[in-house]
Amino acid sequence: MKLLRILILFITVQVSAQQGGMWIPSLLEGMNEDEMQSLGSKLSAKDIYDVNKSSLKDAIVHFNGGCTGEIISDKGLLLTNHHCGFSQIQSHSSLENDYLKDGFWAMNLDEELPNEGLFVEFIVRIEDVTSQVLAGITETMTEKEKQSQIDKNSNTLQTEVKKETWQDTKVKSFYKGNQYFLFVTERYEDIRLVGAPPSSIGKFGSDTDNWVFPRHTGDFSMFRIYADKNNRPAKYSKDNVPYKPKHFLPISLDGVDEGDFTMVFGFPGRTDEYLPAVAIEHITTEYNPSNIAIREAALKVIDAGMKASDDVRIKYASKQARIANAWKKWIGENLGIKKSDAVAERRAFEASFTKALKEKGLESKYGHILPEFDKLYKDFASVNIKRRNFIEVFLVTNELMQMTFRAYQVEQGLKQNPDNLEKNKTYITNLLKGVHKDYDVNVDKGVFEAVMPLYKKNNIDPTIYDKTAFTNLDSALKLFDGSADDIIKNLNNDAAYAYAKPMIEEFFNTINSEYQEKNEPITALQTEYMTALMKALPNARYFPDANSTLRVTYGQVRGYSPRDAVYYQPVSYLDGVIEKYVPGDYEFDVPQKLRDLYDAKDYGQYADSNGKVPVCFLGTNHTTGGNSGSPAIDAHGNLVGLNFDRVWEGTMSDMNYDPEICRNIMVDLRYVLFIVDKYAGAKHLIDEMKLVHPKK
Ligand code: ARG
Ligand code: ASP
Repeated sequence: MKLLRILILFITVQVSAQQGGMWIPSLLEGMNEDEMQSLGSKLSAKDIYDVNKSSLKDAIVHFNGGCTGEIISDKGLLLTNHHCGFSQIQSHSSLENDYLKDGFWAMNLDEELPNEGLFVEFIVRIEDVTSQVLAGITETMTEKEKQSQIDKNSNTLQTEVKKETWQDTKVKSFYKGNQYFLFVTERYEDIRLVGAPPSSIGKFGSDTDNWVFPRHTGDFSMFRIYADKNNRPAKYSKDNVPYKPKHFLPISLDGVDEGDFTMVFGFPGRTDEYLPAVAIEHITTEYNPSNIAIREAALKVIDAGMKASDDVRIKYASKQARIANAWKKWIGENLGIKKSDAVAERRAFEASFTKALKEKGLESKYGHILPEFDKLYKDFASVNIKRRNFIEVFLVTNELMQMTFRAYQVEQGLKQNPDNLEKNKTYITNLLKGVHKDYDVNVDKGVFEAVMPLYKKNNIDPTIYDKTAFTNLDSALKLFDGSADDIIKNLNNDAAYAYAKPMIEEFFNTINSEYQEKNEPITALQTEYMTALMKALPNARYFPDANSTLRVTYGQVRGYSPRDAVYYQPVSYLDGVIEKYVPGDYEFDVPQKLRDLYDAKDYGQYADSNGKVPVCFLGTNHTTGGNSGSPAIDAHGNLVGLNFDRVWEGTMSDMNYDPEICRNIMVDLRYVLFIVDKYAGAKHLIDEMKLVHPKK
C-alpha cells in the first residue's frame, strides 16, 4: 500500500514535471528544485543561481536584447545562434569576403571582428521589490493613477538601489503586475565575431525546415566578450582584453539519450499563458488569419522576385526571413490550438475556476471577470485586427508605405518643434539609406498591389509609384532639404505621401487611440484575473509570462507524435543532412568539405556511441522567441545543446503549453564542435574549452 502511494506520488510528480513553465532563477528552491531532481537533475537551486558565489547564471547573457548567449571558456568565448549573429555576420560580408556564404573563422584574437552597437548583458542579482513598487497603490485609484505611482516607485528604486557605478538596474512586472523584481545588470559593449559556419550549415534547410522537425541545422556562431584591464565593461578599444567570466560552461562530449534531464537557461521574450478562452479564440480564428493573409500576399511577390533575380535574392534575404518566420509560426500556432482543442480546454478550465470561486466565497469579488472578458473582447476584436493589419502593411511588408509613415513622424516632429530640424534630418536620412540599401522598386510595387487591398479595399492607387520621390534614394533625400517649412511643403506635394497621409492620420487619431482605450481595461482585468486565479486555485502551477528576463525552463529529451501513426525520434544525425542534400539548392546545398568528412567518417571525438554525428535533438523545455542561443544544460551543469527553435505543432506554447506536442529544438554541442574542429580547422577554439565526460 505504501509502495503504491509512493508510486502514485511519483507518477504525478513525473507528469506535472512535464507541464512546462519559465521560472525565476532566484526562486527555484523548493518546488522547482524538487521537480528538476525528480527529472534527473543533480543540480541544487544554488548551483543555478547564487549571489554570493559563482553559479550557472554567471555564464548566461542577454545577447543584443533579443537572443541569449553563454560563455564557454575562461577567455570570454561566447556561443549563440547563427540567426542571432546573422546581421553582424552579414555586416562584415562583401562579395570578396562572403562570410554569410563561406563562413568566417578568426584564427587568433587579432582576427576577431568588432561589432558596433552589439552588446550583451549579465544578471548580477534579482530582488523581489513588490511591496516597494506597490506602495501607495489603492483600490480607488484609476488605472492611470496606479500606473504612474508604480512608475514613480520603480524609478526611485532604480536610482536608490545599491550597485557599482558600471552596473545598471531595471524593475520588471511579473504575474500581470502582481509581483515586481529588480534586476542589477552589467552590459558589455565590445563584442567581437569569432566564428560562423557557412549558411549552408548555420541556416541549412532555411524556410522549408524552419519551425519543423526532423531538423538538421547547425544554427550557431561564436563571439568573444572584451573588457577593460579591470575586467569591467568598456567601449570598443584595441587595448581591451578578453573578459574573464565568473563562470563558464564545460561542454559534455557524452551527449543526451531519450529521457535525459535538460534545462534551458535564457531570456524568453513574451508569452501569454493566462489568456481567457475568448482571447485564444479571437487570436486564432480572426487575428492570426488576417495577418497571415497579408504576409502570404507579400511573400508571394518577394519569393517570385528572389527566384527571378540574384540581386533581389541578396537584397531581400533577411527581410524575407523575418516576414516568413512569424508567418509560418502563426500557421503552426493555429494548427496546434485546433489540434489540441485548446479553446474548449480553456473553457473547461474556466468552469473549474468559476466553481472554485463559488466554493471559496469569492464569487461576488471575482465572478464578474470572465463575462467581462467576453464583453471586452467582443468590443476589442475589430480594432485589434485593424491596428495590426495597419502595422503589417505600413511597417512590416510594404517599404514605400514605411517611408511615408516615417516621413509623417518627421512632419509631426517638425511641427511640434522646428528646432529639431537637424535631428529629424539625420533620422530620416539614416532610415531612407537603410531602406534603399536593399530596395527593389518593382518588388515593392508588387507587394503594395498585393497587400493594400487587404487593408483598404477601395483605395489602391499603384500610380503613386510612378509619381513619388520616395522610390529613389537621391530624390527621396531631396524631399528633406531646406527648412522645416520646405520639408513639410515637399512632403505634402509628393504623390505617395499625399496618398498615405490620411491613412496614417486615421491610424494615430482613430485606430490606435481606440485600441489603447479598449486594451486598457483588458490589461487591468488580466491583472485581476491573475490575482483571482491564484486565490481560487492556489495549488495550480503558476509561472510568470515571459518578459525578456532571465528564466529557467526544464524537461527531458523526448520525441513526439505530430499526427496519427507518425512518431519523431528525438535525435537527428549527419546522415539526415546528406539525405536532404540537393546540389546547388539555396536551402539544401551541403558544402563539399562536410560531404568529404561524412564519406570518410572522419568524426574525431564527436560521434555518438552508435558511430554517428548527432545534429539536433528535441526536449520538453518550455521556450519562446528570445530563448534562441540559450544553453541546454545537462543534469550536472554541462552544456549539451544550443536552443534555436520549436516544432511547428507546438508553437502554440506561447498561449497553451501542451506537454504532448510542445518541443524545443536544440543543436547538439558535438555537432558544433565537429564543425569548429573538423570542418573549420579552428582547433585553437576547442583547446580553449573544457570538454568533459559526465557519463563515463
Ligand atoms: N524559427 C526560429 C526563430 O523564431 C529560427 C528563425 C531563423 N531561421 C529562419 N529560417 N528564419 O527565431
Ligand atoms: N527561434 C526563436 C528565437 O529566435 C526561438 C523560438 O521561438 O522557439 O528566439
